[in-house]
Amino acid sequence: MDVQSPESLELAAPAQRGAWTVTESGWDPTRANYFETVFTVGNGRLGTRGSLEEGHLGDVSGTFLAGVYDAHDSPVIDLVNAPDWLNTVVYADSERLDVDTLDVVEHERVLDLKTGVLHRRTVFALGDGARVEVATARFASMADRNQCRLRVRVTPLDRAVDLSITTRIDAHRRNMESLPIYPEGTTFDYERKWDKWSLSRHLREKGRGFTGDVGSIVTQTIDSDVEIAYAMRVCAVGDLTGRSRKQRHERVEETLEFRAEPGVAVGFDKVVGIATSRDVGVERSPAQRASAATESADFDAALAKSEAVWAQLWESSECEIVGDDRAALALRFSVYHLLIAANPDDPTVNIGAKSLSGEGYRGHVFWDTEIMMLPFFLFTQPRAARALLGYRHHTLRGAREVAADSGFRGARYPWESADTGREECPVTTPDGKNRFYTRDEELHVTADVAYAICRYAEVTGDVDYLYGEGAEILFDTSQFWVSRCVDDGDRAVLLTVMGPDEFHSHIDNNAFTNRMVQWHLEQAVRVYREMAEHRPDELARLRDALSISDSDVEVWADLAARIVAPVDPDVGLIEQFDGYFERLEVPITVWDENDMPQYPAGYHHFNCEDTTLLKQPDAVMLMFMLPDDYSMETRRANYDFYEARTLHKSSLSPSIHAIVGLQVGNSSKAEQYFARSAFVDLDDNQGNTEEGMHIASAAGTWQVVVHGFAGFLAGVDGLSFAPALPESWERVKFSIHWRGRVVKADLGHDVNRFTLVGDGEPEEIHVHGAAVVLTPGVEVEVEAVATV
Ligand code: BGC
Repeated sequence: MDVQSPESLELAAPAQRGAWTVTESGWDPTRANYFETVFTVGNGRLGTRGSLEEGHLGDVSGTFLAGVYDAHDSPVIDLVNAPDWLNTVVYADSERLDVDTLDVVEHERVLDLKTGVLHRRTVFALGDGARVEVATARFASMADRNQCRLRVRVTPLDRAVDLSITTRIDAHRRNMESLPIYPEGTTFDYERKWDKWSLSRHLREKGRGFTGDVGSIVTQTIDSDVEIAYAMRVCAVGDLTGRSRKQRHERVEETLEFRAEPGVAVGFDKVVGIATSRDVGVERSPAQRASAATESADFDAALAKSEAVWAQLWESSECEIVGDDRAALALRFSVYHLLIAANPDDPTVNIGAKSLSGEGYRGHVFWDTEIMMLPFFLFTQPRAARALLGYRHHTLRGAREVAADSGFRGARYPWESADTGREECPVTTPDGKNRFYTRDEELHVTADVAYAICRYAEVTGDVDYLYGEGAEILFDTSQFWVSRCVDDGDRAVLLTVMGPDEFHSHIDNNAFTNRMVQWHLEQAVRVYREMAEHRPDELARLRDALSISDSDVEVWADLAARIVAPVDPDVGLIEQFDGYFERLEVPITVWDENDMPQYPAGYHHFNCEDTTLLKQPDAVMLMFMLPDDYSMETRRANYDFYEARTLHKSSLSPSIHAIVGLQVGNSSKAEQYFARSAFVDLDDNQGNTEEGMHIASAAGTWQVVVHGFAGFLAGVDGLSFAPALPESWERVKFSIHWRGRVVKADLGHDVNRFTLVGDGEPEEIHVHGAAVVLTPGVEVEVEAVATV
C-alpha cells in the first residue's frame, strides 16, 4: 500500500504484538461469529461483541449490561441485547463500505489484551478499483464503567472521494429465542444461519433526542422495568462539508460529510455514556449519568485513563508462561476475558456462563462462578471476589422462594440464576424434545455457594463477611438441606438428584452432592458456634431474622454425621451414585481432531443414563474441591477410574482433570487437558465459541497453571507450592493475594523465586513440603525439586 495516513496506521498497530494480542487476518465470513465473541471488549459492567461497525450478513452483534435481564415474550429470561453503540456506516462516492457489497482488499483486526482495545483496519475497493481504508479503535473504559469509545478514520488511498459517515445509537435490538425445528441434517450457510431464529423484544423506547451536540436515547426493559440510557457525543476530525443530526424511532444518529483527499484521514471520535436504573450507589437519573459520561470527547485522554486501570489489573492478575508463546497467549487471553467479566463495584451482579460476550445460556449464572471463577478473583482481585459473593446474598430472597416453591424450608439457590435468584433454567431444550432435569435436581449449587463463602473467608480472613452475609446464607441454606434430606434408618439420604455429571438424572445419594452437603452443614455448625462465642449480638440478630435456634444447629450437626458419606476406605473407589457400578460399560474409542473424546456410536447427551459414561466427573471434582479429605491412593484410584469414562462434554471438565491428574502424580495427560481448556475458545475446540466465551474454562485454565503446574494451595496452614512445570515451559510467574499482601512466585525447573510484597511480619510458606520464610520485599530463591 503506497499511501497511508500515519494516524490510521497507529490505530491498527498496537504497540504490543505476540503474546499480548489476538489477530484476525483477512476477511472470512464463516469465521466472523467466532471473532465476534473472541474480540469482545468490556469492563465488567458491560461487554460488547467484536462485530464490524457497519454490520454484515450473518452477524451476531450485541452489547450486554451486567444484571439487565428481561423475560417479556421469551420463554426464559434473557440477558438483554442492549442498544448498540458502535453502529457506523460509511459511504464513499455513494458506495457503502461493507464486506458484503465491496471487495475487501485487506482486513486485519487486533485485540490488544493489555489495554482492552480492539483495533481494525480494512481496505475496500470501490467499483472502479479505488481503495478506501477504514481504521477503527474501540474500548469500554475501565476507568469509567459508564463510558465506551469509538474512533473511526477513513482514508481514500488512490483518489479523492466524497465521504458520508453516519454513526448511531441503535436501540432496535432483539434477542434470539429459539430455532424452529428443521429435518435433521439441514444446514444453512453463514449468511442465513441466524435469520432462522425467532426473536424476542425486550426494550421499549421512552425518549430520544439531541441536547446541544449530545444525542440520547432512553429505553426500558418491558417486564423488568430497567431504564437504560445511552448518550453520545461525536467529535469530527477533518474538514467537514456537511453535518446533520437525526432521530427516529429507537435511533439517534449523526452524519458527517467530507471531501476526502488521498492519503488524508478523516472521521470522528465518539464517546458513549451508558447508565441504567439498576446501577448501585448512584443518585442521578440514568439519562443524567449517561450524558455526564460524554462530557469529554478526548479519546486519547480517556484511553490513557482506562489503560492506567488496565495496568493495575494486569499487575495484580498477571500470570505468565515463559518459553511457550502459544500457551502464554492462551493464558493471557483467558485472564483478559475474566477481567472484563467482573465488576468489583457491583455486588448485585454475577458472571454468566458466557460472561458478557454472547447470548449463550441467556446470560444465566451457574455454579461456574463459585467453583471455577472464584479462585481466580480470590487470589488476584479479592474485591471482585467479594462482589461476586455479594450477588448470592442479593438474590437470597429468590433462593428462599425456590425452596418454598418445591415445598422446602430455608433457601435453595437455583441451577440457573439471573436478576432475582429465582430458577431460570428452561424446562426443555429449545426444540422442546428433551426435558432439563437440572433445574429440579442439580441441587449441589447451594453447597457450592457455601463452599465459596468459606473459601473466601479462609483466604481473605474477612470474618465480618463470614459472620454477616456469609453466615446468613450458610444458615438458611442448611435449613433447606434439613428439609430436603430424608431419614433411612439411622442414615440420612438425598434422593432424586443430579450431580455435576448431567448424563445421570433422578439418582440417589450422589457422592458429590452428599459430601458437599455434609461439608456445608459442618461449616454452618462451625460458624454458628464461633459466632456464639465471638459475635453473640450478630448471632442473635441472625437467629431472629431466620427463626433458628440452638436446636436447629444440633439438627445440622446430626444430619452431617448421618448423611450417607461416599467414602469407602477399603475399596478406594467412590461410587458416583447408588447403582452406578451396575450401569453399562461403553468404552470411549474415538477422539476428534481437537483431541476431544467422541460419543460412542448411538449415544448423545440425553441417552447415556444407563451407561457409566460421564459428561463431567463428580468424584474427580470432589477431590479437586476437598483434596485433604481423601488419601492419595483413593484420589489416584478415582481419577484413573473416572477419567477413562469421561467424555468432557462440559468445558469445565478438562481443567479439573489436569489439576487432579497432577495432584495424584498422573501428569501424563495434564498438558493435553491444559490445552483442551486453554484453547477451547481460541481454537474453538467445542465448535460453539460464536455463542459466547466459555468463561469457566478460561478460569479453569488459570487454575491449571496456578493450582496444577505450580501446585499452589492455600488453606488454614498458609500457602504452599509444589511446582512441576511442563518441559516446554521455562518458567511460570504469577502473583497471589493473601490476607492483604501479595506473594509473587517465579517458578522454573532449576530455581523458584518468591517475594512477599507488603508490610508486616514475615510469612512462612511451604515449597514441596519444606518451610520457607518470606520477609517483606526480599526475594527468596529455593532450589527446584526434580519431579520426574
Ligand atoms: C455443564 C455445567 C455448567 C453449565 C454452564 C453445562 O454444560 O454441565 O456444569 O454449569 O454448562 O457452563
